[in-house]
Amino acid sequence: MKVLVIGGAGYIGSHVAKALMKSGHRVRVFDNLSSGQEINLFKQNEFVKGDILDYPALLSAMQGQEAVIHLAAKKAVGESMENPMIYSSNNISGSLNILNAMVETGAKYIVFSSSAAVYGMPEKIPVDETAPLNPINYYGFTKLEIEKFMQWYDRLKGIKFVALRYFNAVGYDAEGDILGKERGSQNLLPIVMEVLSGKREKLKIFGNDYPTPNGTCIRDYIHVSDLASAHLLALEKLAGGMPSQSLNLGTGKGTSVKEIVEAVERVSGKSLPVEYADRRPGDPAVLIAAADKARELLGWQPQYTDIDKIVETVWRIN
Ligand code: UD1
Repeated sequence: MKVLVIGGAGYIGSHVAKALMKSGHRVRVFDNLSSGQEINLFKQNEFVKGDILDYPALLSAMQGQEAVIHLAAKKAVGESMENPMIYSSNNISGSLNILNAMVETGAKYIVFSSSAAVYGMPEKIPVDETAPLNPINYYGFTKLEIEKFMQWYDRLKGIKFVALRYFNAVGYDAEGDILGKERGSQNLLPIVMEVLSGKREKLKIFGNDYPTPNGTCIRDYIHVSDLASAHLLALEKLAGGMPSQSLNLGTGKGTSVKEIVEAVERVSGKSLPVEYADRRPGDPAVLIAAADKARELLGWQPQYTDIDKIVETVWRIN
């Protein structure tokens, strides 16, 4: 298929572009390189530099494409609460431009990068797709709204979508093909790596009094290459007639912040300086995916279930 990967020079997008290219799809990457990096592009794939807020540029890049994978978004939860305006314009207006351009160009399928943040503070763990959708940060709200826009564009214009609700995306391509380390990420593993490389003095663990076995927050860390394979399968299933869906992507296994620290210490052979800090507002104690629906409908199976193996892929490129 001819696929436009929007945000394809970014962290997750570059892994998706690789998976699509390897299975024979014709990939055109559209990226404004604001957080994406040229070093992440594959020479086999076409590249168009442009911004989703520049509608004529987007429209021109989409000509002749059958499908879109949309990963171009702002994703810092804290920033979204302080500066919602850039999330409104980039995430919401940008996504509407993409849907409008799809109607105009006749592209039929979209796989969208959604998030576990659409659930907010879940009442039941593991979280399945029937859980209440109550985002507690503006970032999560934008992801949920885009899912709703896609439902309407499906009803009104027949655009078929899969929204993939990622839990905690981590890791790097194990074959070393993607070299652009994420810059300025506020997520746990990138911060841990900055501590190991001396860029930061220590890791602040946000809260050690959560109702979890060791008091630190538990998350479902899913390897980025497993996320990538789900995008590929979602696209192929949509083209095969699967109706529009929202699907969780996680391993179903929880790992605490302390367990991440221990895994990093095992893999790197270094000790990681940590200090305990206050809880970060808006952090649920435990977030674990029930991803049975993705397994059943897509035939998806995450390959990385061992946290040490995941951390190794991060440590290797640092
Ligand atoms: C959040 C979103 C997720 C989104 C991701 C993208 C929620 C519930 N989750 O994940 O949907 O895709 O951001 O950015 O909104 N931690 C520390 N010290 C640090 C950094 C993190 O202890 O310096 C802890 C956090 O408290 C958390 C865990 O590490 O328990 C993971 O944090 P992070 O990587 O920021 O991701 P989430 O907040 O879980």
